[in-house]
Amino acid sequence: MAKSSEVRPIVLLGYMGSGKSTLLEPLATATSRVAIDLDTYIEQKYEMSISHIFEKYGDFHFRKIERQALQEVLNISNALIALGGGTPCFYDSMKLIRKSSFSIYLKVSTRKLIDRLGNQRNTRPLLSNLNTKEFKSFIEREVAKRSAYYEQADFILEDTSLEQAVSRITTRYKNFVELS
Ligand code: S3P
Repeated sequence: MAKSSEVRPIVLLGYMGSGKSTLLEPLATATSRVAIDLDTYIEQKYEMSISHIFEKYGDFHFRKIERQALQEVLNISNALIALGGGTPCFYDSMKLIRKSSFSIYLKVSTRKLIDRLGNQRNTRPLLSNLNTKEFKSFIEREVAKRSAYYEQADFILEDTSLEQAVSRITTRYKNFVELS
């Protein structure tokens, strides 16, 4: 059965470095929601870091457990969920997200993502083995591919400050609740 919009989870999605985790706590406070970071949820569930899961079991296994974790967190009442960058782009996950949540795409230019992620390469399993040239073309290619999924979100928020993001999302969400 479809959930009524007041209890629907709110979901933040977007590429690595788009600000999902930064926005999570302030937005949870503003919307009186329970903040859930999907990567942290997975790390606690498996008692293992995301990097370690990639290293030990590989991408395919990570995507399987990520999908399972997504289904679990979408069932948590009153949740505000920050997804991993790849979460909406595998299996039919974007369809599931659209059906069961109010989703927000944090859209950031590829140039900014490259700047922000440049010095975090070692801590991110998908980027850690790439040299500078490979890193840039990887981000450009991946963002182009993943945008088709991200753009299906209920609301697209482009490059804004933290304060603006919180206020624009809360306004847009109120409209969404009133109209549904
Ligand atoms: C990934 C993004 C990461 C994490 C994993 C894979 C991706 O999450 O889930 O390293 O495929 O883009 P963040 O977007 O929170 O960094």
